[in-house]
Amino acid sequence: MDEQESETSPERPIRVADASDLKFLLESDLPPRAVLNVLAPDIELPPDADEATIARLLISLVDPPRRNKLTQFNTIEDAVQLIRKSNKIIVLSGAGISTSAGLPDFRSRNGIYKQIHEKHPNLSDPKCIFDIKFFRKNPQPFYHFARALFPGQYEPTVGHNFIKCLEEHGKLLNNYTQNIDTLEKQAGIRRVVECHGSFAKATCTNCRYSLDGEYIKKDIFSNKIPICPLCHSSDEGPNDGLGVMKPNIVFFGEQLGINFHDTLEADKDRVDLLIVIGSSLKVRPVALLPTLIPHEVPQILINREPLGHFNFDIELYGNCDEIIQELCHRLGDGWTKICLPGWKPLTELDASKQSPAFKLKTSSGLESVEECDGANVDTDRVRLSEIIDPLQEAGPKVPEGTFLFVKPNKYIFNGAEIASA
Ligand code: OAD
Repeated sequence: MDEQESETSPERPIRVADASDLKFLLESDLPPRAVLNVLAPDIELPPDADEATIARLLISLVDPPRRNKLTQFNTIEDAVQLIRKSNKIIVLSGAGISTSAGLPDFRSRNGIYKQIHEKHPNLSDPKCIFDIKFFRKNPQPFYHFARALFPGQYEPTVGHNFIKCLEEHGKLLNNYTQNIDTLEKQAGIRRVVECHGSFAKATCTNCRYSLDGEYIKKDIFSNKIPICPLCHSSDEGPNDGLGVMKPNIVFFGEQLGINFHDTLEADKDRVDLLIVIGSSLKVRPVALLPTLIPHEVPQILINREPLGHFNFDIELYGNCDEIIQELCHRLGDGWTKICLPGWKPLTELDASKQSPAFKLKTSSGLESVEECDGANVDTDRVRLSEIIDPLQEAGPKVPEGTFLFVKPNKYIFNGAEIASA
């Protein structure tokens, strides 16, 4: 998110409308700004926000109808053929694409939310360190973790290199990333939409003065809260959260940059394949992307765990690096360069000999960045199990170097989060 986009962030949370309320209001001939005023009177829109932008914001507040699976695409070979013939591919990536670089994801059992819970057991909800209201009151817990998350300490993964390879083949429409680690840029991907912003810039929570992210790096690495050079001249920093420099990453309770909505608006009529890599798809509005693009566009999921709230055509479960290398091996020349040294093609197990049948753990349910109400974070204790994916009893695993096909459209690779039946 650039400096200008961060200006659009409202201080108050957005209430999510019921679809029928929205339909009623849209049919009432009220202009989009008036509809938004009724649904979310607390939102302070920038005066120059046009009606089309507001209309898109409204649409992002309601869940579009769920997409049905396309029956003609099922196998890993179908996935390879789809990649071969598609030229406008959207890759939607999440924290899972970066875990092999050494960065934790958010909701897995050893993810950031679990770590926050351990470090700050008194916080009612680990997510609140990424909540704008909480940050204004107490930026310390965020800055404690910011050091570990700060870009420049990690290397791009096989997943990032695969997206770069798609771009080199002229097949990438855009990589929508929810990550703030900037590994896409480090991998050289140019067509990237940083949906949740990045550390590239930082903005004062009080006067909106904006600086290069490098400015706050020194403070972060010295365990100091970076303060605004304009608002404060003392080294001590304010306690009220005002005058603190905040990286331009999207917190819960803030709106996504206009770039996300505008780019998606343009891309949705051009995209010919969607590949989702390493995301629980729990946080709106980005998580709505698979339902916002035309439903006849094929969709492939590459993730450790199934996402029960979506219907993908081809589901490839396991460590994404492994799955992507197998895809690239099958794609052949021009693709295998992303395979790690020593990597060997995988062997398919005989499904008829597998007993008991594999059953996949399912993750479901949506949260919203924009609707999150920071007022709740102090009072309503959220059960950790509601944030972190429930701990999984170790289920059967396919041995390294192998995979299993579960008809009609699921593949289980090493690293898949699966449970015994
Ligand atoms: P999550 O932690 O919610 O989900 C990561 C997903 O990646 C999970 O479904 C894992 O099973 C999967 N995964 C982890 N490692 C993997 C691997 N090596 N290979 C394949 N899959 C793997 O992270 P996101 O979906 O990115 O927002 O989270 C979305 C947003 O929630 C974040 O951008 C952040 C967070 O709150 C904000 O802070 C605003």
